[in-house]
Amino acid sequence: MKDSPKNPDRRKLLKAIGGATAAGAATSFMSGCGSEHHRENLSFQEVPHSLDFNHHLPQGYSADILLRWGDPIVANLKEFEPKQLTAKGQSQRFGYNNDFIAFMPLAENTPAGHGDIHCQSGNSDRGLLCVNHEYTQPHLMFSGYNDEYSATRGVSAEHVAIELAACGHSVIEITRTDKGWQPVLESPYNRRITATTPMQISGPASGDKRLQTTADPSGTQVLGTIGNCAGGKTPWGTVLVAEEGFGGAFQGDPNKIEDTREARNHLDFGVRPHNRNLGDYDPRFDIQQEPNEPNRFGWMVEYDPYDPQSIPRKLTTLGRFEHEGFTLVCKPGQPVVAYGGDDDEHQFVYRYVSKEAYLPKDPTHNRNLLTEGTLYAARFDADGSGKWLPLVFGQGPLNSNNGFHNQADVLIDARQAAALLGATPMDRPEDVETNPHNDCTYVMLTKNKSRAEDGVDAANPRHQNTAGHILEIVPPIKPGKKTGRDHTSDQFRWQQFLLGGNPNAENPKERGAYGQQSTYNISNHGWFTNPDNVAFDPHGNMWVATDGCERFGFHDGLWAMATEGPMRAAPKHFFGCPQGAEVCGPEFTPDGTTLFIAVQHPADALNSTYDHPLHRWPDNNPELPPRPSVLAIYRDDGGEVGS
Ligand code: FEO
Ligand code: CA
Ligand code: CA
Repeated sequence: MKDSPKNPDRRKLLKAIGGATAAGAATSFMSGCGSEHHRENLSFQEVPHSLDFNHHLPQGYSADILLRWGDPIVANLKEFEPKQLTAKGQSQRFGYNNDFIAFMPLAENTPAGHGDIHCQSGNSDRGLLCVNHEYTQPHLMFSGYNDEYSATRGVSAEHVAIELAACGHSVIEITRTDKGWQPVLESPYNRRITATTPMQISGPASGDKRLQTTADPSGTQVLGTIGNCAGGKTPWGTVLVAEEGFGGAFQGDPNKIEDTREARNHLDFGVRPHNRNLGDYDPRFDIQQEPNEPNRFGWMVEYDPYDPQSIPRKLTTLGRFEHEGFTLVCKPGQPVVAYGGDDDEHQFVYRYVSKEAYLPKDPTHNRNLLTEGTLYAARFDADGSGKWLPLVFGQGPLNSNNGFHNQADVLIDARQAAALLGATPMDRPEDVETNPHNDCTYVMLTKNKSRAEDGVDAANPRHQNTAGHILEIVPPIKPGKKTGRDHTSDQFRWQQFLLGGNPNAENPKERGAYGQQSTYNISNHGWFTNPDNVAFDPHGNMWVATDGCERFGFHDGLWAMATEGPMRAAPKHFFGCPQGAEVCGPEFTPDGTTLFIAVQHPADALNSTYDHPLHRWPDNNPELPPRPSVLAIYRDDGGEVGS
């Protein structure tokens, strides 16, 4: 290890963040992680850091603008005219602020349903693009609002109805043609799921009195999903949709709610008197009128894109918090393990283990794997060890003395349960995903401006963490085995994978740390901040999407890196956003030749409105506002992206 002359503290810093590596090196936990099976195929020409109104790709790559807000997802609709948009029209068009993307392959000559067969086909030329729409921004969607404040608090009934139809999720069949990727508007699979789509509530909290409302005294059915950030997918052909920032949709004063438990609960999720004014038009968004309605949000939602009639269901087994997403590890004959994060300051990393085993040949059995199992929260200890703590009613402090009367309470108030168990409060956990190549799990920690100087710990080592970091969870190898990690074990080891920030920054708080050896592994454009979403290409390289680089002077984008070998955690910059946007949902086709990304909130900047936007990406048409869009990125020679 050689310190950069510009960065004399680097050795000390790496020693501090890499402490877990040394501690774990002698155990079976660490073998295979960071050493084997690496393939350095990231040969693309790096994109420079910049900040302008365009998107940027390496030489030799192209991007199809595949779907934009307002594009029809059914046949025979007119071109998008934003000033003519109605709620009904929006419900037949691609929604706003695209986030998570799942590419679900379509097998040839296979009927609807049979999601497992479609998924196993690995078809990379035809599939269903399943896309979240996280939230709406009326000042950028509609003419006539002078600023974000007046729009969010004084939006009209007509605009509220359009917004509710612009949230949620889209399913669109797409196919690869001579002219690139195209939507198939005649497809029977195409559908919108919105903030008013009927859904069922499954699992232990279904029917609980805290989920009952005037419109649904049974507590088992709910209208819609909101705050749909990242998600996940299953090998039996379903898609998981996360409900993240739902509190902002509700108005009313939690302090006026008689039940002090619900008052604390609603305050914790950001319900405030002057959030939005949706409750002026639909009483369920006003907690003074419907105090239980927010308890019906903050869940993971599962639905089947291969069955256009399928009714989505909220999975209360996976707990209620500000879900970023949940991603699965499915090994034949073993329980399904799912990892997720609660994207808020000082919140937790979670794991779910199903009661029954995953049986690849039994899709009916697999459909219930996410409705019965155990949720855990993570404790990261300073010596590089860690423990999964079960959120089970009656175990440890999770009893009536602490306000938990049944398992429904534990799941509805998962945050309180995890805190009581001693889980480690983290720096805003975003995506948590396992690299199939080394079977290690990576936690994107985007930032935490509230991390106090005396509140730092080994897992969250920076005071007022502005740049975020990525942590690596290493499950143990099963006793007597040489390979194959046991994600069901309650013990794990962990280490820092990288610290976001500039490796050469003078301010130690903004100084990043990458790679195992030295900063010369990365260029001046290779560093990034604020990791948010993550994907792995077919070679096990990690692709990180960011949300926050503009505060460091350059666009958000995508950075790719190996997780193994000498170039481990040494990123290269692949994609840059137009100003104001963040990148979400990186997703590869199974063959790795197309990379789908969601460019969210382009031109989101101070004083940028529909009438006076900062720019009009991607159309650059004076009649159209900036539009959140999904891009399909590919190599001009048809090769694998990144190679
Ligand atoms: Fe919606 Fe956690 O970003
Ligand atoms: Ca996110
Ligand atoms: Ca984000």
